[in-house]
Amino acid sequence: MSNNTPAGTPTKPLNERSRMVTEGVARAPNRSMYYAMGYKEEDFINKPMIGVANGHSTITPCNSGLQPLADAAVVALKSANANAQLFGTPTISDGIGMGTEGMKYSLVSREVIADCIETCVNGQWMDGVLVIGGCDKNMPGGMMAIARTNVPAIYVYGGTIKPGRYKNKDLTIVSAFEAVGEFTAGRLNEADFKEIEKRSCPGSGSCGGMYTANTMSSAFEALGISLPYSSTMANVHDEKVQSAKESARVLVQAIRKGIKPRDIVTRKSIENAVAVIMATGGSTNAVLHFLAIAHCAGVEWTIDDFERIRQRTPVLCDLKPSGKALAVDLHVAGGIPQVMKILLNAGLLHGDCITITGQTIAEVLKDVPDAPPEQSVIHTIDNAMYKQGHLAILKGNLSPEGAVAKITGLKNPVITGPARVFDDEQSALEAILAGKIKAGDVMVLRYLGPKGGPGMPEMLAPTGALIGAGLGESVGLITDGRFSGGTWGMVVGHVAPEAAAGGTIAFVQEGDS
Ligand code: FES
Repeated sequence: MSNNTPAGTPTKPLNERSRMVTEGVARAPNRSMYYAMGYKEEDFINKPMIGVANGHSTITPCNSGLQPLADAAVVALKSANANAQLFGTPTISDGIGMGTEGMKYSLVSREVIADCIETCVNGQWMDGVLVIGGCDKNMPGGMMAIARTNVPAIYVYGGTIKPGRYKNKDLTIVSAFEAVGEFTAGRLNEADFKEIEKRSCPGSGSCGGMYTANTMSSAFEALGISLPYSSTMANVHDEKVQSAKESARVLVQAIRKGIKPRDIVTRKSIENAVAVIMATGGSTNAVLHFLAIAHCAGVEWTIDDFERIRQRTPVLCDLKPSGKALAVDLHVAGGIPQVMKILLNAGLLHGDCITITGQTIAEVLKDVPDAPPEQSVIHTIDNAMYKQGHLAILKGNLSPEGAVAKITGLKNPVITGPARVFDDEQSALEAILAGKIKAGDVMVLRYLGPKGGPGMPEMLAPTGALIGAGLGESVGLITDGRFSGGTWGMVVGHVAPEAAAGGTIAFVQEGDS
């Protein structure tokens, strides 16, 4: 179907794919298996088989609140005359694995999640899939599967965590990482350190700033594959359950209309998603995740496309890690639709991209006010936080194929100083905590890329420790590893080619300028 197919036109039977396994005399043994689970004869007639990819897990708070959403989606699918097939997807927690050997499995888990969903959707000939995810890698993993299988699909984000609170300050998981540096630098006493650790994560939901999970959920909303306003809701709020129900209803309609993911995920809609990532000050991980999503959707997209969008898109939102507010504050301020409306009015968004609802982006945003109400989270174009986006693609002698720098929150984006070279993350962290890194140093952390790590771990422990030690603005850090969405400071990551692949970063020596 092209983007011009009139919405509401039924083009195919609702169970076009699943009929292959449920209809006909030769298929009786297949149906027996369904009867064992309570199916009735009428369930095989024009009722789609819809997968519910459930990321629920008690491994991490990011996923521990997903079951109510999955349950609500199953009930809503059944009331919309569909069959629901619930299956699980794994997760690991970056917040828990950070700084450990476990972090080497983080990026790989994205591929595992994508493979799990593709396996179930195609192995059982599902007619559609509703993907529910929470933690960072659930997001691109789910979208990659959606793009690969190209059966009608909707992404239901599990929702953000609410902030912790201590001594009149909002806390997130990053507060705990930064507290390590503050404590060892003698800037925080032990009692406060322990309270921050206990209070940073007050309940279920994904990490609360514009870190990777919230960045990706916001981008999916902009892409049109998640419902408006759904990407910034808190996991524990009832509106999240209502949104899961509505997503189920919308997905059944999308199957009826024949709307497929590759009608939605196009070069233009990825430009929209990246514009929203820039406007909200999103995570560096969005760069490698959107390269993968575009690849799975068959869309031509290179690292240079991020720089093209960055140069024309201002940062509008004052969000953590470098800013002040959290995803729950962005939600109250008007959410992603408000950010998108400002971008659309400024000619920075394509309004004609179709969404999972069958409406275009311009139609979805029709009733959103042109300007946000009085608040401090979403800025107007005239009053932007930064005139250009914050995820800069750099190329140079150490990164001929490109690197990613996050350049918001910095008073001075230039540093020249002696290289302090580390071939692993742990010794770099120990050097910071032992006070061996001084203002003006440029840390080089290498052999931490996809091959070298292996698995391209995130460097939140050292970057958080630098911020906590008060060195965030005076020490540079260059790595072929990745960063957490919670990282900020004078940091350059994803240096390519990586050291383990013979990149020039492998040749830097201690003390080089
Ligand atoms: Fe799961 Fe941050 S650790 S979203």
